[in-house]
Amino acid sequence: MGGYGDVIMIDENGKRMDGRGPADLREISIETGVVPVADGSCRMIWGTNEAIVSVYGPMEAHPRKIQRQDSAVLAVEYNMAPFSTTDRMRPGFNRRSKEISKVTKDALESVVLLELYPRSKIQVNIEIISAEAGTRCVGLTAASVALADAGIPMTDLVVSVASGKINDIVVCDLNKEEDNYGEADLPMGILPNTGELVFLQMDGNLSQEEFKQAWDYNMDAASRVHEIMKKALIGGDGK
Ligand code: CDP
Repeated sequence: MGGYGDVIMIDENGKRMDGRGPADLREISIETGVVPVADGSCRMIWGTNEAIVSVYGPMEAHPRKIQRQDSAVLAVEYNMAPFSTTDRMRPGFNRRSKEISKVTKDALESVVLLELYPRSKIQVNIEIISAEAGTRCVGLTAASVALADAGIPMTDLVVSVASGKINDIVVCDLNKEEDNYGEADLPMGILPNTGELVFLQMDGNLSQEEFKQAWDYNMDAASRVHEIMKKALIGGDGK
């Protein structure tokens, strides 16, 4: 969120640098069952973001001291591959990946029926293969699809999308330039069947009206992405 006022990212006709209008999403496709050894998996391509998520479990939680007597533990690891961005990432976990893993776990814990699997563990690995802004949203959305693909009972899927502000205009689903040079970013995790929120972060400043517009864009985008998720899970190509 640089907020560089001199970088023009939307023209007078409301067209963004990648040709989208303010309310448009990047192209999305979802495929399940992409990691044969996993119990559930998903590849999600969102613009030029790509995430592969694998789910293992429920399995016995080891070591025993991490077990919970009344529910399963959910372990979530988000990682950006070293080759996923133009500047090679230092491999391994850092503060950012720990933060994203934690907020993703918190969001997923709101929907996964962990109480059905006492003393067990469900492992979710989110690997970002290609990163172009909004990877926490792609990771969380794809993780909910991979959990469903693993047959883990859940109250709902989670759709995550980030709207924000560029050149004083609120737009849906920021791309990398918009994320870098824009003025604000509002990623949200939404339960598409109820409209409930399980995740929200905000970077930069939005007025009340701008916040409402970004919120509405995210809610509307959630319904559209939800359709693609459902198609992928019932055997369509998810496009
Ligand atoms: O990916 P997301 O928008 O959820 O998180 P961010 O921290 O706001 O990062 C925005 C984008 O910056 C990422 O999607 C990457 O394209 C890029 N980035 C990077 O190239 N190297 C990093 N260490 C972190 C982010």
